[in-house]
Amino acid sequence: MAGLCAPEEDGRQRRRRQAASEGSVGPDSPADPDRKAARAMPNDGSTTTDAVRMTEVRKVYGKRDNQVVALNGVTTRFGRGTFTAIMGPSGSGKSTLLQCAAGLDRPTSGSVLLEDHELSDMNETRLTMLRRDRIGFIFQAFNLLPVLTVRQNVTLPLRLAGRKPARGRVKSVLEQVGLGERSKHRPAELSGGQQQRVAIARALISDPAVIFADEPTGALDTRTARGVLGLLQHSAQTAGQTIVMVTHDPVAASYADRVLFLADGNLVGELRSPTAEAVAERMTHLGAFAEEDALPAPAMTGEGHR
Ligand SMILES: Nc1ncnc2c1ncn2[C@@H]1O[C@H](COP(=O)(O)OP(=O)(O)OP(=O)(O)O)[C@@H](O)[C@H]1O
Ligand SMILES: [Mg+2]
Repeated sequence: MAGLCAPEEDGRQRRRRQAASEGSVGPDSPADPDRKAARAMPNDGSTTTDAVRMTEVRKVYGKRDNQVVALNGVTTRFGRGTFTAIMGPSGSGKSTLLQCAAGLDRPTSGSVLLEDHELSDMNETRLTMLRRDRIGFIFQAFNLLPVLTVRQNVTLPLRLAGRKPARGRVKSVLEQVGLGERSKHRPAELSGGQQQRVAIARALISDPAVIFADEPTGALDTRTARGVLGLLQHSAQTAGQTIVMVTHDPVAASYADRVLFLADGNLVGELRSPTAEAVAERMTHLGAFAEEDALPAPAMTGEGHR
């Protein structure tokens, strides 16, 4: 059973990290040690280990008597190469947190640092460039363009930015998500899980430092969902990417290193090395699940997924 306050890095995590750093890595692989080392050092020469740092982030929608406080002063950090799940009842502010952290929405007040860059100081152009270069975003509804092939969908963000992917990069990213043979297919010719893997490839193509995913498995069946979660976990473990994922599913959350719980715009708890049972129990206390949903289904085994 996972403890509430496990140490920063337990033996299992350490073994995983070592295995990742010892794994065989090709020159183009995102797990290339040089690239990993480069990612671990921010551009300004400081040595922070945080990919994202949020301080007292508040987001209020609407005006005067119509106001909704979506985030009520959230302070947290997401370390490089970590995988965090964000959970909480509907309307608790999960998507808002993700969008503020990703620079897709501006907080009403507070600070968001992405690799030591203060997002609130940036104008729209700089923010767009930072998002393009350092951030990947995966949505529940894949958001693929039906008329484009898999390859064209994956390269679209780069092309919109007037850039071309490096030679061999599209192929290696598609192979990474298990779609090496599908590059000429159109989304309608793929299963839901395959379409979501195209969306992940599109997020990975620019080798972002942080991938934000809002319910990426919400529209998938259990088996396909596991494939997608395994892929996200793999990105954090081998490529040192930071993953922040919103989910309603305790099993999905158990793939993460840590779960943050939100209620009414406040961070109300945290679980490290989460198991599905521990997450479900917490969610029940938050009133997100009915009591009868609290007991995990047979698929939820006592172990987390690592
Ligand atoms: N653009 C908006 N204008 C006004 N209110 C908004 C807007 N976006 C979100 N809200 C409100 O902010 C609160 C938090 O919304 P948010 O979408 O972050 O919740 P969530 O935790 O992601 O919920 P869900 O699990 O249903 O997706 C809700 O009360 C919502 O109605
Ligand atoms: Mg949401």
